[in-house]
Amino acid sequence: MITSKIIAAGKAVPAKIVTNDDLSRLVDTSDEWIKSRTGIEERRISQNETTTDLAYEASKAAFDKYKIDPATIDLIIVATISPDNFMPSTASLLQERLGLNNRHVMAFDINAACTGLVYGIQIAHKFIQTGSAKRALVVGSETLSRTLNWEDRSTCVIFGDGAGAVVLEASDRGIIADYTNSLGDPDLNLAIPALPLKSPFADEMTCSPSCMTMNGAEIFKFASFAVKDAIVHVLEKSGLTMDDIKFIVPHQANMRIVSKISKVMHIPVEKFYVNIKNYGNTSSASIGIALDELLDSGQVHPGDKLILVGFGGGLTWGAILVEF
Ligand code: ACO
Repeated sequence: MITSKIIAAGKAVPAKIVTNDDLSRLVDTSDEWIKSRTGIEERRISQNETTTDLAYEASKAAFDKYKIDPATIDLIIVATISPDNFMPSTASLLQERLGLNNRHVMAFDINAACTGLVYGIQIAHKFIQTGSAKRALVVGSETLSRTLNWEDRSTCVIFGDGAGAVVLEASDRGIIADYTNSLGDPDLNLAIPALPLKSPFADEMTCSPSCMTMNGAEIFKFASFAVKDAIVHVLEKSGLTMDDIKFIVPHQANMRIVSKISKVMHIPVEKFYVNIKNYGNTSSASIGIALDELLDSGQVHPGDKLILVGFGGGLTWGAILVEF
């Protein structure tokens, strides 16, 4: 049966490192609080890199490292909640930067918050399985720093900027099971408001600032459910057990969520690949950045099976079980 295989990964992060101590000079926080509550030690924050720049650099890194000709890409999906423009899409701008303007390429953005890369991989996988695409580039890219209220210590310490890219192509082995889900959250426990209605015909509207807001405790509860639910679903769909899985690459949101899942599901914590201490939570970019680092570390061998699992605003969640 035709499936799709991940044949490349790449990442890009801004040059500027912002430590917990740097943040303690901006808001009332401390390295000890941030490290003990989240596992984060530092994050990268853009000084001038845009979401498109980071998406391009991550894609180029994947192409260069795995010797892939960009001209062979016929589908580009960018997952982002912090695009440079509402229009054109980041994917269209990326297409231009990659020199693919005169090619037959489908390019579009998706918003599934921190589950964006998992959603993007699933969509690309379906296009490949139906023969509508041969090689797909899926990128999660964020400059979340532009969405943060830098006076709100409960959110500004958690997030960072970056991009992670993967390339998929048709193969007889690769993705074994995929699962995505969503629930419309009426309470907006995790949100970034966009533009207020402002035409001459609009009812009077309160203009809300476009900053991220988060109910941390509710999101923690949701994440604990969502990661387990997604892992259970892909294992069930594939007929495999946790013993068959070499690594889990989770959305890098909080080390305490990983520890909790590890405990509740009796999965050794070493099975989770975690790099949150270096980058913070980079939303749709985090799984791609982590996967790229894991592949670079030489710990994944042909035949190894991994679970990529994400959760985020929406609320959305999902997982991909893939053989390398
Ligand atoms: N530094 C110091 N103190 C702080 C900070 C900070 N940066 N932020 C909050 N506090 C204070 C609070 O004001 C509160 O003080 P109070 O007791 O005087 O009122 C105290 O610390 C405890 O606050 P809590 O919110 O209860 O802290 P908690 O232990 O729950 O940790 C956290 C907060 C880290 C946000 C946690 O709830 C969490 O990790 N939630 C999940 C968040 C997450 O993963 N979000 C992203 C997922 S989805 C996505 O990626 C988009």
